[in-house]
Amino acid sequence: MKNKVFHHLKKNKGSYVSGESLSEILGVSRTAVWKHINELKKEGYVIESTSRKGYRLVSGPDILNPFEIGYNLETKILGSSILYFDVIDSTNNYAKKVASEGCKDGTVIIAESQIAGRGRLGRTWDSSDKKGIWMSVILKPLVAPEDVQIITLAASVAVVSAINQISGIKAGIKWPNDIIIEGRKVCGILTEMSTEMEQVNFLVIGIGLNVNHESEDFPSDIKDKAISLKMAGCRECIAGHGNFDRIEIIKRILCELERIYSKITNGTVSEIISEWKQNSVTLGKEVKVSSRERQYSGIAIDITDEGKLIVKCTDGVTREISTGEIAVKGALGYA
Ligand code: BTN
Repeated sequence: MKNKVFHHLKKNKGSYVSGESLSEILGVSRTAVWKHINELKKEGYVIESTSRKGYRLVSGPDILNPFEIGYNLETKILGSSILYFDVIDSTNNYAKKVASEGCKDGTVIIAESQIAGRGRLGRTWDSSDKKGIWMSVILKPLVAPEDVQIITLAASVAVVSAINQISGIKAGIKWPNDIIIEGRKVCGILTEMSTEMEQVNFLVIGIGLNVNHESEDFPSDIKDKAISLKMAGCRECIAGHGNFDRIEIIKRILCELERIYSKITNGTVSEIISEWKQNSVTLGKEVKVSSRERQYSGIAIDITDEGKLIVKCTDGVTREISTGEIAVKGALGYA
């Protein structure tokens, strides 16, 4: 019921809604409405109330409340269930647990902070309290394990597109799915899956997006390589000194991810590749590829329909890279 009271105030944000109309619409007494308003106030919502006009939502707390994320969320599958944590070890760990217990397709796990956030290749992921978006999306696609790479690429396209729609900032993608602004990393994506008999049981797409960090919020070892939307926005637009609304960004990411993900189910994967290429900061650049056996240097010339990176190496051989790490000249400290 508290959520419903919130929804009505949000729908009329800035204007007053009378206690009488709220009690009529929701079918509860005015005292009950008043109690729910007080609960919302305790959670940090600023709600003005006057006896003549009723209630007016002024602002909300900087908390990723699932009922706010779910409000007017224009998706069919993603976010149909949202599990929220103030602190967690890793949203990906929790996502794998609930997915193996049989949760709904499209379930989202969100936390304000992670104490054991994980990155690709066994790295840790700095997940400071309320500064970023640390979330995992569970998908149950009907694809073979070898086709999962494309979903990972789709996730990076979705995040770049959401960033652009919300902030106007043009981010780029470093293969496979690091998101870069001004040569620094703003977002990383860790995709993990459970497979059986050549079939994918579920996929967990873990998204870590730096949103409202100041430079000093990053640990010293990544300070020169990391950036947040706020840091980038401050340099780009005068109005960028405020915090970004993390809820609006999450909603946009979920909508964009669903839009791009649907291209896999409706057989228009080539459009994902094409969107990825348009946003790439990798193609045409000098790259260093670190594989288990050795290192190669060359020029990244294309990606395959399965999302492998094609590199024309300095030894004259053209190679297709499917896993591992690459360094791109001009990004993340490779000068
Ligand atoms: C990378 O190394 O670039 C991937 C970083 C992924 C971080 C996100 S934050 C939410 C989710 N939970 C985790 O433990 N990791 C991912």
